[in-house]
This record gives sequence, structure tokens and C-alpha cells, in this order.
Amino acid sequence: MLIKNPRGWELPESAATPEALFRDRRSVLAGLGLGAIGAAAAAFAPPAHAATGPADPSAKLYPVKRNAKYVTDRPLTAEKNAASWNNFYEYQQAATDITDDAAKLKIRPWEVKITGLVDKPLTFAIDDLLAKMPLEERVYRHRCVETWSMIVPWTGFPLKALVDLAKPTSAAKYVKLVTFLNKDMAPGQRQFWWPWPYTEGLTIEEATHELTFLATGVYGHPAPPQHGAPLRLAVPWKYGFKAVKSIVEISFVAERPRTFWETYQPKEYGFWANVNPGVAHPRWSQATERPLDTSGRVPTLMYNGYGEFVASLYTGNTDPRLFM
Ligand code: MTE
Repeated sequence: MLIKNPRGWELPESAATPEALFRDRRSVLAGLGLGAIGAAAAAFAPPAHAATGPADPSAKLYPVKRNAKYVTDRPLTAEKNAASWNNFYEYQQAATDITDDAAKLKIRPWEVKITGLVDKPLTFAIDDLLAKMPLEERVYRHRCVETWSMIVPWTGFPLKALVDLAKPTSAAKYVKLVTFLNKDMAPGQRQFWWPWPYTEGLTIEEATHELTFLATGVYGHPAPPQHGAPLRLAVPWKYGFKAVKSIVEISFVAERPRTFWETYQPKEYGFWANVNPGVAHPRWSQATERPLDTSGRVPTLMYNGYGEFVASLYTGNTDPRLFM
């Protein structure tokens, strides 16, 4: 039986989203005399832990060229805000600043296994994988089901490049992506009521879609732990909970995988999770969102603004849970 504890994003947005906290952070900035200009300067500051943490051996690969094809209608979110407002339940069970908690995440050595319905299972050390993959930077919208949003420059590679390397068999219909499991490194995983490890899934068509990206970095450097280093998913037309962090296994399977949130609360979270302003979460509206750099709200776009790229993936798909 599931034990229901009130969690951050199970509350109405007014309560779940720490609007007051957010305002607090802004007033601290203002109090320091930083305000808008200070915030802009902070956008280029490395995340707090980067100065003290171990050097990331992949740092020499950055920055990489931005792919100009993917544009957004809003400026980049200040890096300081993007790196201090993170959902990573392995560390804290609500979106907040988890920089210090997530510093427990050891990102080397790190292996990624390719398993399931493939010609030959593979295991890569993350740096060997990075050396093989076509790295590029992409600026994507990132919209959490809790209704906050960011504009983030991810560095990484299309998941399709890895699928091509993995050579799945024709029986593979879905891709399952799994986060590490290590209670010492992630205290949140001691909380038995969550279905660890965090697991997500995509259809093969979604996984090989040009927008589907495995991110290794942000803002022109390796991703800090709180963003899901050293490898996380970015599927910008879906709610942020699909963007599984700190991936250790990518498995090709015949059956639709059961995902973390779907397992925990199937009445509220589904497999598809395509952004749709017209379909409310059972407890709050999805019509608008709050960009992290502002205190106002803007309309949410169908497929988070990526309809021209992805709408055809769902032609004829009548699953009523397409937008949960
Ligand atoms: N991946 C893992 N392993 N654990 C998590 O708790 N949270 C998800 C997703 N990936 C989560 C995760 C949710 S709810 C969101 S909104 C995004 O990560 C947040 O990504 P960000 O912190 O980089 O903005």
C-alpha cells in the first residue's frame, strides 16, 4: 500500500511553489544591491559547489557549439536560479536549493549500461561515452508539472546517437532510463515509500526523435550534481519529471516501463506527460507557468512550444492520458 505523505508537488501550486521563498531569494539579492544587473552577472557565475568540488575530467570538452535550430522566445534563465531550484528527490523532496545535499553525488567513476533487446549489451565509462558522442549545445524550454519553468542551455548529444550505437532489435518498442541506486550517496533513497530507483521511459519513436537529448552539461560547463550529473534526459515537450537524472542504465524493452511517478501516484502522473495548458493536473491548472527569473506568470504553450516538431508523434494516439 502506498503511504501518502504530503509532498512538494502534491500540494496546490500556491502552497507547493514556494512563491514566498522565491520572493525571499529575490529580496536577498536586492538587499545585497544586486537586483537585475547582479542577477545577470550571477548568470555567468559557476554554481557554488564548483569552486570546491573535485575537478570534472570532462571540463576540457566545454564549451561546445550551440545548435542554432532550437530557439526560444524568452532569454536564458540566470544560471544561479536554474542551479538553485532543483527537483532531485534523492536529495530533497521538494524543489529547492539542493546544491550542498547533491554534492554527495560522486560522478566519477560512472558507468552507463546499455541493456535489454540489443545486439550486444554494452557498458561505457562516462568519459569514453562522451568522447564518442557528437556534443552540441541546445537552448531548451524546461517546464515542471509544478508550473515553474526555465530556459536552459544544455550541452549533450541526441539520444538517437546512442540508440544507433546500441543497435536495438526490432522487438524493442520502448526505452527505459534508470537513475543510480545508492542509499549512502542519496539519503532520499532510504525513504521506502518511493519506488526507487527513479525510472522513466519513452517509446522508441520518442527516444529517436531529434529533440530528445541526453545532457551532460549546462551553461557551457559540465552539469553540477543538482542538475543530474553526469548524464540526464532533456525532452522539452514533456513535463520535467520525464527528465530522469544521473542515468546509469538505458534498457531497450518490449513492454511499456512503469515510471517512478506513475507507480507512486497513477491518478496524477502518467507515462506520456506531454505539456498541455488545456489539461489540468487533478489538483491545479496547467494553463500558465512562472518563469524562474520572474514573479509573474505567462501562458503555457501546447507541447511546451514544440508542437511543430512533435505533434505528429501522437497522430492517432487516443490514450486519454497523453497529457498527464
Ligand atoms: N530525476 C531523478 N533521478 N530524481 C528526481 O527527483 N525529478 C524530476 C526530473 N528528474 C527527478 C529527476 C523533476 S520532477 C524535474 S522538474 C526535473 O528533474 C528537474 O530538473 P532540474 O532540477 O535540472 O531543473
